[in-house]
Amino acid sequence: MSRLQVVSGKGGTGKTTVAAALALALATEGKRALLVEVEGRQGIAQLFETQALPYEERKIAVAPGGGEVYALAIDPELALLDYLQMFYKMGGAGRALKKLGAIDFATTIAPGLRDVLLTGKACEAVRRKDKAGRFVYDYVVMDAPPTGRITRFLNVNDEVAGLARIGPIHNQAQAVMRVLKSPETAVHLVTLLEEMPVQETADGIAELRAARLPVGRVIVNMMRPEVLDAADLELVRGVPRAAVAKSLSAAGLGGARRGGLAERLVDPLLGQAEEYAERHALEREQRAVLADLGLPVHELPLLAEGMDLAGLYALARELREQDLSW
Ligand SMILES: Nc1ncnc2c1ncn2[C@@H]1O[C@H](COP(=O)(O)OP(=O)(O)O)[C@@H](O)[C@H]1O
Ligand SMILES: [Mg+2]
Repeated sequence: MSRLQVVSGKGGTGKTTVAAALALALATEGKRALLVEVEGRQGIAQLFETQALPYEERKIAVAPGGGEVYALAIDPELALLDYLQMFYKMGGAGRALKKLGAIDFATTIAPGLRDVLLTGKACEAVRRKDKAGRFVYDYVVMDAPPTGRITRFLNVNDEVAGLARIGPIHNQAQAVMRVLKSPETAVHLVTLLEEMPVQETADGIAELRAARLPVGRVIVNMMRPEVLDAADLELVRGVPRAAVAKSLSAAGLGGARRGGLAERLVDPLLGQAEEYAERHALEREQRAVLADLGLPVHELPLLAEGMDLAGLYALARELREQDLSW
């Protein structure tokens, strides 16, 4: 079971939501999970309906069964100061560097360095132990960059190779890669059951595999409920209009004769069934594409009332029910 759970996926498919639900799901029964945000959007704070997160670990939720979820929004600038402090004892000098623009250099001109600081912070949390020698966090869940950037983001070794061949940055990158490429890490991809995001998911997985990063699971988010199954759809195709009108009429929806209410409802009703049948067929195709990836696939429902805390807990419950031996 991987202790570092990285959640990526096409933008807008629900990375932040799924990462948060996963942290809640993993933190049951007295476990402790740290939810880490690396893109500075304060999406986690919004989701948990709390104030913006500072650059420090903070308890934000209690999971069912007494587990705890902590959250951390990693600020790359502050992570760089931390890093300089750790290796070069440059606390005050760090602030001076900031004024000189060194931080701009490190965070915008050398993105590889920025990434190694972000992943490094998450890996540090994974390995951190308390005085008794126990892991401080049972799980670290990362709300990671989207599919298009995830491999590069995690492959920090390659990124900083041109920047530092020896020295602390190099060592840091190596240590981070050891964790990221080990079974201690699993990279999950969130998708919708639609052609574009599914294709992006397949491409992303191929990239991750090529980079020898451990791919975990596919999470299909915002699944709409199945209204009619394949057998129902078959029935709809063959049913005569007159029979539909008669049934509607029998259900109390007006006359079945020409011009009667029931008769007028037939076309819109069959039109909807047709539309649904198309969606159903598309979804079936995309499910087949996902099945070919050879990974466990999870499905989370579309919460029709929109997302709130109760919805988040409901998604966590869904995940727990779907086998959490991740
Ligand atoms: N299962 C769901 N049901 C309903 N709304 C959802 C669900 N998952 C995510 N959302 C909503 O979709 C939007 C995008 O989700 P978010 O987690 O912010 O995506 P990302 O982090 O990938 O950009 C948000 O408004 C969120 O509340
Ligand atoms: Mg997000």
